[in-house]
Amino acid sequence: MNKDRKLIIAGNWKMHKTAAEALDLIVGLKRELAAIKEVDLVVCPPFTALGAVSAEVLDSNLRLGAQNVSEHNGGAYTGEISALMLKEFSVRYVILGHSERRQYQGESNELVSRKALATHAAALKPIVCIGETLDERQANRTETVLETQLKGSLAGLTKDQMEETVLAYEPVWAIGTGQTATAEQAQSAHAFIRKVLVSLFDESIAKRVRIQYGGSVKPSNARELMSQSDVDGALVGGASLEVRSFTDIVKHSI
Ligand code: PGA
Repeated sequence: MNKDRKLIIAGNWKMHKTAAEALDLIVGLKRELAAIKEVDLVVCPPFTALGAVSAEVLDSNLRLGAQNVSEHNGGAYTGEISALMLKEFSVRYVILGHSERRQYQGESNELVSRKALATHAAALKPIVCIGETLDERQANRTETVLETQLKGSLAGLTKDQMEETVLAYEPVWAIGTGQTATAEQAQSAHAFIRKVLVSLFDESIAKRVRIQYGGSVKPSNARELMSQSDVDGALVGGASLEVRSFTDIVKHSI
């Protein structure tokens, strides 16, 4: 597949895998994906498994991501984890604003932008998630919602920081439901997102930023989704929890 932007495929393990289970998974992924150079590969285990996975990915083509970070550098914030603490485990990416955090933890676009700034300040790369709900899509509000999320979640980022940011378009109705957006729906949302990036930043940034698709990506639909001109990778939930399915997604995407 010939695109200017290198594909980036990330596994979002969510609240799955103990450290011991994570170790099993990462050892298998390392073995099966060792030859892959065409795609940037990222795994995002829960915080408690970062140590175990970190030691394994150091000498591999897999990079480590976290699923969240505090907006603060440190201090009296019980239960929070700072970007600096993540760096200690060689974390390179941080998923921000996932719809589950927006829904269950009440994360706002403003909070996501503060977290994105904290992430960049530590020289880590945010993967900023946006996406509409089913109600919003049915009310023809998809583009308005995406634009608002982009403006709010990327507020304050410099052009240089935006270039080091990955976006993930994840229609909420497709996450964990088995109902994938069609390739046309994904392409049209991604093209729109790129248009908004032109207005928020500039044409060359918009061309360079990678936009992942997320929501029930599996081996059977990866090829078609990844072949869309504005789809630059995938954020994979359920299918990233097993060596076979994640490996097949990666191999079908090349
Ligand atoms: P899913 O999750 O692949 O299980 O739909 C995607 C995500 O939430 O990032």
